[in-house]
Amino acid sequence: MIIAVDGPAAAGKGTLARRLAQHFGLAYLDTGSLYRAAALKALARGSPSDPKVAEAAARDVRIEDVTDPRLRDEDVGEAASVVAAIPAVRAALLDLQRDFAHRPPGGAKGAVLDGRDIGTVVCPEADAKLFVTASLEARAARRSRELQGSDSGSIYGRVLQDMKSRDARDSGRAAAPLQRAADALALDTTALDADAAFTAAVDFIARKLGSR
Ligand code: CDP
Repeated sequence: MIIAVDGPAAAGKGTLARRLAQHFGLAYLDTGSLYRAAALKALARGSPSDPKVAEAAARDVRIEDVTDPRLRDEDVGEAASVVAAIPAVRAALLDLQRDFAHRPPGGAKGAVLDGRDIGTVVCPEADAKLFVTASLEARAARRSRELQGSDSGSIYGRVLQDMKSRDARDSGRAAAPLQRAADALALDTTALDADAAFTAAVDFIARKLGSR
């Protein structure tokens, strides 16, 4: 069983995907972490926007790299969206993602993957697909709180601008752009808390699995 969860930054994909994995007894992979790991290696080796440097860095990424706390830094997220636009980087990370989906670790009976192109490119055969969105303002507010705790007012403007340019880059690139698969449930979490989003997702997945 494969569940694909796609959507833009800070839409609530990670929280939802983690809960779905736990609920259905599946392994979980945050594929953004792979792009972040490639970006971190490329930053250490020179320029992440250099396709040769970025591709070599992506080839060195291993599943174990996803736990490095430095991956969460904002500059690494920004560099991740730069390396993610390079087709050779995406190609280098494809097998890793498909292997995880089809041979999940720990003997799990399937996997939940979250990212930008899981339902469209990595696992178009997924049993259920969700496309999670929220307004730019709601997402910038969430990311500001994550970065800075409750006192998020001072960085909100910068986070909003960064998110806008990252959205444009992720949706506008030629290689596997962020887009909803035709058979994905569109879930707008602007006015939904984590519990409501989870309930809506579980209902959809149960209907999807029941209708086969
Ligand atoms: O945490 P956040 O939603 O901000 O970003 P992320 O999911 O960690 O992804 C970081 C960057 O990797 C994104 O901006 C995308 O450009 C890229 N990415 C991608 O291209 N394809 C994926 N399947 C996952 C991430």
